[in-house]
Parts: sequence; C-alpha cells; structure tokens
Amino acid sequence: MSTAIYPGSFDPITLGHLDIIRRAAACFDKLYVCVMVNCEKQHPMFTAEQRVALIRASVADMDNVEVESCSGLLADYAVGKGACVLVKGVRNATDFDQEYQMASINRGIHPQLETVFLPASAPYQHFSSTMVREMIRYGQPMEKYVPAPVAEELKRKERS
Ligand code: PNS
Repeated sequence: MSTAIYPGSFDPITLGHLDIIRRAAACFDKLYVCVMVNCEKQHPMFTAEQRVALIRASVADMDNVEVESCSGLLADYAVGKGACVLVKGVRNATDFDQEYQMASINRGIHPQLETVFLPASAPYQHFSSTMVREMIRYGQPMEKYVPAPVAEELKRKERS
C-alpha cells in the first residue's frame, strides 16, 4: 500500500491546499493531511484542533484521506505512519528553493523519505494562508479562497 503525507500549517486551509490534497489522494492509496504545530507561530487564527476539524469537513468526500496533527518532527511522523513520500505543493521558484531545502533535511533524517512536488494549479498560484488572512481583514468574500466549511466558520466568527 502506498502511503503519503501532506503536511502544512493550514491556518487556514485554502482552495489551493484542497486542490493539492485531491490530486495527491488520486496518486496514493492513503494520504494523511498533517497539521504541523509550530510553537514559534504565536498568534494562529485557528487552533490546531480547529484546523484539523475544518480540513476534515473539507475532505469529507475523499475516502482515502485522513487528517491529524503533529507537534514533533515531520520525518518521524511520516515514518511512524509507514509513509515513504511527503507531498508538497509548489507555486513558484521561491517555494521550490524552500521545499528543496526541507526535502534534503527530511531525507537527512530518514533517507528512505522522498518528497514529491506537485505544481500549483494555475488558478491557485497566488493563493496562500497569509493572503487569505489579509483578505479576511478587508472583508473580501471568502468563498473565492477557502473551502465552504472554512468560509462558514469565518462568517460565524465574524457574527459572534
Ligand atoms: O504550511 P507551511 O507553514 O509552509 O508548512 C511548513 C511545515 C509545517 C511543513 C514545516 O515547517 C515542517 O515540516 N515543520 C515540522 C518540523 C520539522 O519536521 N522540521 C524539519 C523539516 S524542515
């Protein structure tokens, strides 16, 4: 069975992330989407638990996708899941430079761990969680940027 991990901060998950999840899920028997908890990011928009719940709601139609969180080393988490592939979405050369470095670090920890890069689909090349958080501040309609469960949660937050 082929198992892969798609890690990230997902604060919040965007339609660009969802596109990568759908495409990666078609390539592997099992895909774990892993919310990596970064203690240095002091003021997240959503807690790790909320992010997991929002991603679960967004991938409800994908049978071979599971969503978890992890606060340790990604490479250890992946090997613990029996995965030998990490999936990363790449939007541009800057992403590639960063991801190339991270792929080398992860393979330095567990040499059997490969990183597979999926190029961002054209409509999502400029999407990022940072950009989405900025658009929220300026009251832009969220359906353009995030899956429906996230848009609904943002509206609910705004009302409360
Ligand atoms: O969505 P992001 O913030 O670009 O994702 C980056 C992430 C979380 C995948 C990366 O920072 C990561 O893997 N962190 C986990 C800690 C770790 O394993 N570090 C070593 C590899 S760089």
